[in-house]
Amino acid sequence: MPRLKDKVAIVTGGTKGIGFGIAEEFVKEGAKVVICGRSRETGTSALSALEQLDGEVLFVACDVGDIDSLEHSIAETVNHFGRLDIYVANAGINDPEKTHFLDITPEQYDKIMDINLRGMFFGGQKAARQMVKQGERGVLINMSSVNAHLALDSQMVYTTSKGAIQQLTKVQAVALAQYNIKVNAIAPGAIDTELMRRVGSDKQLMNTILSRTPMGRIGTPTECGRLAVFLASPDSDFIFGQSIYNDGGRGFQAFPTPGYKTLSDEEYDLFQLLVDQNQ
Ligand SMILES: NC(=O)c1ccc[n+]([C@@H]2O[C@H](COP(=O)([O-])OP(=O)(O)OC[C@H]3O[C@@H](n4cnc5c(N)ncnc54)[C@H](O)[C@@H]3O)[C@@H](O)[C@H]2O)c1
Repeated sequence: MPRLKDKVAIVTGGTKGIGFGIAEEFVKEGAKVVICGRSRETGTSALSALEQLDGEVLFVACDVGDIDSLEHSIAETVNHFGRLDIYVANAGINDPEKTHFLDITPEQYDKIMDINLRGMFFGGQKAARQMVKQGERGVLINMSSVNAHLALDSQMVYTTSKGAIQQLTKVQAVALAQYNIKVNAIAPGAIDTELMRRVGSDKQLMNTILSRTPMGRIGTPTECGRLAVFLASPDSDFIFGQSIYNDGGRGFQAFPTPGYKTLSDEEYDLFQLLVDQNQ
């Protein structure tokens, strides 16, 4: 029996990367899935890939940095599928410039915070209002990061937003428990996506990440999707306000893992090739 049969789920940023991995696993488990993203073109090609899995799916254009757009995505979902059971606030961006703390402008700060934190806060609020109206159980899943507790000074605003998401998840869980809405977060380490590929283009940084990942590899969007299915299903019903770290052990590894060998140029090229093949 599929674990999410007939549940209606929204995945923000579900058109690629981790969000798409979650949408795929939800469809395989019988959910009706709405993927939200800014680009209609990316959305349309993601939609046809999901339709090939025999999924009941919908693309809704949505910018999570815009409150009206968030409202519209919930309304469209309810218009089309009649209800909303699961809301995955996944969309997120980081700072490709790696701006130093001393140089970050209010505009750079607002851009990342509006999407990563404000969009998640109000998206979750609007989704929860709909779930409360329905009067049945609901699920919110927030996308955090291992950087919720690692101090990554080259991604200052991103790291701040992810730390805040860990607290947001706990307070949402407390506020919504009375309505039978379960709230948890996924906190990935390095996952094979475009966002990660931008980080991985720096060989020295890639070595630093892998040397502090005891499992010695990066994770996949599918692995995030399977965790999301678990958090969306009744299997996780006593897990409350938690951030679950699917990070290959990176979050607690202070020093290079014993036995880690620095990637040679050949191994690094091979790694890049594998990342390319998985895109
Ligand atoms: N890839 C990793 O290693 C990693 C690690 C930890 C956490 N994360 C988190 O996972 C989430 C997804 O990241 P990813 O690696 O899949 O990134 P990605 O860049 O591959 O995909 C991000 C998705 O979010 C969407 N998006 C961005 N801004 C948006 C907006 N304003 N409105 C709607 N959609 C928007 C994009 O269109 C895209 O679909 C992010 O919250 C990120 O912080 C990623």
